[in-house]
Amino acid sequence: MLKSSVALKDSLPAVTMPLPGPKAAVVLKQRAACVPNAIGTQYPVVIKRGAGAMIEDLDGNRLLDWVGGVGVMNVGYSQPAIIAAVQAQAQNYFHSMINVTTHPSYVELTRRLSALAPLNSTHNKAMLINSGAEALENAVKIARSYTKRNNIIVFSGAFHGRTALTVAMTAKRSYSYGLDHNISGIYRAPYPYLYRAPKGYSRSESIRYYLDQLELVFAQGCPAEFVAGIVLEPIQGEGGFIPAPFEYVAALRQICHKYGILLIADEVQTGFGRSGQLFVSNYWQERGFAPDIIATAKSIGAGLPLAAVISTAEIMDGIQPGIVGSTFGGNAMACVAGLKVLDIIRDQDLCQKALRNGKIVATGFRALQAKYPQVGDVRGIGSMVGIEFVHDPISKQPYPELVQRLINNAVQHGLLMENAGLHDNVIRFLCPLVATPEQLKAGLKIFESALTAALTD
Ligand SMILES: Cc1ncc(COP(=O)(O)O)c(C=O)c1O
Repeated sequence: MLKSSVALKDSLPAVTMPLPGPKAAVVLKQRAACVPNAIGTQYPVVIKRGAGAMIEDLDGNRLLDWVGGVGVMNVGYSQPAIIAAVQAQAQNYFHSMINVTTHPSYVELTRRLSALAPLNSTHNKAMLINSGAEALENAVKIARSYTKRNNIIVFSGAFHGRTALTVAMTAKRSYSYGLDHNISGIYRAPYPYLYRAPKGYSRSESIRYYLDQLELVFAQGCPAEFVAGIVLEPIQGEGGFIPAPFEYVAALRQICHKYGILLIADEVQTGFGRSGQLFVSNYWQERGFAPDIIATAKSIGAGLPLAAVISTAEIMDGIQPGIVGSTFGGNAMACVAGLKVLDIIRDQDLCQKALRNGKIVATGFRALQAKYPQVGDVRGIGSMVGIEFVHDPISKQPYPELVQRLINNAVQHGLLMENAGLHDNVIRFLCPLVATPEQLKAGLKIFESALTAALTD
């Protein structure tokens, strides 16, 4: 067992044995026997505890976590205020279904989310559910009910969940491989992916191109007047950490106004300080193109299952009683955690930290781009940064094998990372926002040596 006098939260990565270590290996062997392979893991890491942006495994190794439970741990592991709030709630009651008895934390959380949500109204309402997919399911139901229209437009590269509806809205082969998940009423337009826009196009020509492609969806089979909502990830997550250009969103907002379509922001992965504001929609609102509905989840509950749909009172009350809801949605334990998440983001200046940390990492990635032709693109907003790997910058052919080797090498030196992108050739930076600059610099060092090793493997 390793001994370190530095508190886990403040420590640097320290791996002193090939992973998995002996204790982790036992659990991973058991896991292989009883957990379906489809749940999938490529990491030799079994967590014992987490603090800040660091995790310690069963054998005492310490790793810097650039994944954060895939965007769930924005406030970091083991925030004392959250532990205390959940413990105090547990003393009173775990659960009270909102349809039957009202628990004050549900009311307080929806009140605060409604007040904070960057929408075009001062009277908003929010409902709470358990997961990102549920948030999207409900956002679609609300949009359909309000507009009395059926069709939904989503984008190439989108990820909205794994339920029957949301997997049909999703666009990555591995999430529905071999299954027919087509559902009527779902149409798809190309996401504004500037790095892969038609060759030779300028930024403005590319944006025009993607807007024309959207108009083609209306022309070719999904007339705009039958569309209830357009669902957009403000920074596409699973699709490869691709920010939707603000100019594109501004034009999309106008198209939505013109045809009476609701603009639905899927802020499941982008929310809760990640972008340097509470939501990316805050940037949109400041520029005059706020969405109509925000669906969010992940970091809202600091690891407890919680999600929300927030919209104007008019839209939210356009839905008939009974159509939305869930037994566990807005569970009391999750709600008290959610309230503390909002406090911590404000009191610990996490939006500023997101900007600071994102800058450190994006600068480090850009330095790598100048050195290695395999780094095709570096992009992001705040602390949601993607680095895309290609065989060469001219062909831009995706290089997923390199990314996989890089991830495998890095974990052996204490840096936990995950891929993204339609071709799994992007590495995502989703580290808890409480990471220190020293930890991030240590992470970048591991990243570069893992990359050079991966290039020669
Ligand atoms: C943008 C986006 N929407 C929806 C989801 C689905 O969330 P969940 O896995 O909580 O159902 C995810 C999950 O990664 C996501 O990134």
